[in-house]
Amino acid sequence: MKSITASAPGKLMLYGDHAVVYGKPCIVTAVDQRIYVTVHLNEKKGFHLDAPDLGVSGYIKDQKKLGKDEIPKAVAFIEHCYKRFLEKYPQSQGISVTTKSDFSSLFGFGSSSAVTVAFAKALTTLYEIELSNKELFDVCYQAVIDVQGVGSGFDIAAAIWGGTIYYVTPAKIVKPLTCHELPLVVGYTGIKADTTTLVRMVESLKQQEPRRIEHIFDQISNIVDTAFQAMNENDWEKAGELMNQNQELLRELQVSSVKIEQLITAAQQAGAYGAKLSGAGGGDCIIAICEKESMQHIGKAVENADGKHLQVQLHAQGVRIEK
Ligand code: MEV
Repeated sequence: MKSITASAPGKLMLYGDHAVVYGKPCIVTAVDQRIYVTVHLNEKKGFHLDAPDLGVSGYIKDQKKLGKDEIPKAVAFIEHCYKRFLEKYPQSQGISVTTKSDFSSLFGFGSSSAVTVAFAKALTTLYEIELSNKELFDVCYQAVIDVQGVGSGFDIAAAIWGGTIYYVTPAKIVKPLTCHELPLVVGYTGIKADTTTLVRMVESLKQQEPRRIEHIFDQISNIVDTAFQAMNENDWEKAGELMNQNQELLRELQVSSVKIEQLITAAQQAGAYGAKLSGAGGGDCIIAICEKESMQHIGKAVENADGKHLQVQLHAQGVRIEK
């Protein structure tokens, strides 16, 4: 039976966290920790999934029941994506899906977005449906909104386009950065963040104090635009200063935490130009910009502060078909 495998990378938000949900720009880089999804045409009807890395084996669903009943969280994105696909391109045959992951879903690198994108790419390729990146984005983003109800789709965009991009939701602007290296240290706090809860928290803050929060989003937006320029000029000192400013505004949004601050301080004291949380906050990772030569030293400082230095390749290739 015919089968296709596609892979997609994870992501790290560099600037613009939270404000991007409200139409402001962000900068995101693709992380070379990939998820591989294989889709087979099936003689049996229905949707069959084996994703041991995501904690799901032997999952079967009738096509008519897609998106309904109890769905394990790890399956939800693929299942909703398949449902949306069938609404647009009806098919009588069933499919079997298997996944394999390079990375832990713990770090907040976006395993849900990577798995959704790799699945959609493999599925459409299997049926010989050619989609542009924007069309692929629309299918995947719809699935994310179906499952989570909130989200800017920046993680979907990073998984599709790859590299490092300036992004405005929902892929209204996707502009690649021209810099090639990113002297960035990534430190994991050891705490898994719940993005939806944090996004809802900022939403309620915005309802209570709309003018103050909108002003914060405007300031973040200016930081993102300036950082885009600084990064394209490889001006890492400036990019670091902008990270510190972005982090100050994230503190005002109340999404930082004691552990995040501990790792940021350690990186700064070890000589980083700047540091901030990456993503929703509450946990997950911090990032620090520094001179290329100091990366290992700063990584060590993060470890000494009880963080985990994650040695990951950034600026990774977007979704691709595997041979
Ligand atoms: C979460 O990783 C980043 C947020 O900006 C949410 C989103 O953009 O979907 C907080």
